[in-house]
Amino acid sequence: MSQLSLDAVVEPNETKGIVCIRAADACDVESLSIYFTGLSTTTRNKRFMGARADVAIVAAECVAKASHPDHFTLLAELRQEGRGMIIGETLYAYDAAAGHGEFAISVADAFQRTGLGLQMMTAMERRASDLGHEMIAAETARANAEMRGLAKKAGFCDTGLDWQSVHLAKRLSR
Ligand SMILES: CC(C)(COP(=O)(O)OP(=O)(O)OC[C@H]1O[C@@H](n2cnc3c(N)ncnc32)[C@H](O)[C@@H]1OP(=O)(O)O)[C@@H](O)C(=O)NCCC(=O)NCCS
Repeated sequence: MSQLSLDAVVEPNETKGIVCIRAADACDVESLSIYFTGLSTTTRNKRFMGARADVAIVAAECVAKASHPDHFTLLAELRQEGRGMIIGETLYAYDAAAGHGEFAISVADAFQRTGLGLQMMTAMERRASDLGHEMIAAETARANAEMRGLAKKAGFCDTGLDWQSVHLAKRLSR
């Protein structure tokens, strides 16, 4: 489990706690659904590359995929005073035909730009590498500066561009 202290990234007087990045399991469906519901419309639309109203179904799918050996969902959970709150998630799935993993990621609006996205990407890459996967690819909207910036910082390269999307990829080192 990866941990970082939020003390360093929240303003004084704001709630402090510890953020743990961990694998999702069947108990997380409801809290993941609450997390997706609490995202701003902009963040939710970017996460799903379009509008999705059925967040409870999406949350169940994210967790169900975790039972597949080549898929996983990682959650960033803020723990304070004995309680946990999901503040980020990344879903990873290996495409055997394409020979690479693919992912989607989001961070709760209030916690964006605190380094959490990069921490989650690093945890995802480590886990994918542990599964023996050598390449991760993703697609995001051309206009999604946050995701493009995050991917670049995480070492992804642009591998293609069309009028609305950018394709990204990174070879994992073992
Ligand atoms: C993309 C996303 C996950 C990034 O998470 P985050 O926790 O804010 O990212 P980090 O704080 O780790 O930022 C890492 C780097 O990403 C880039 N970045 C993050 N937000 C950015 C922004 N608004 N504009 C430009 N670059 C940005 C920067 O290079 C940043 O490094 P820096 O802060 O040292 O400059 C978050 O913005 C998000 O949830 N967006 C909505 C969902 C989405 O677009 N998902 C991708 C499609 S699946």
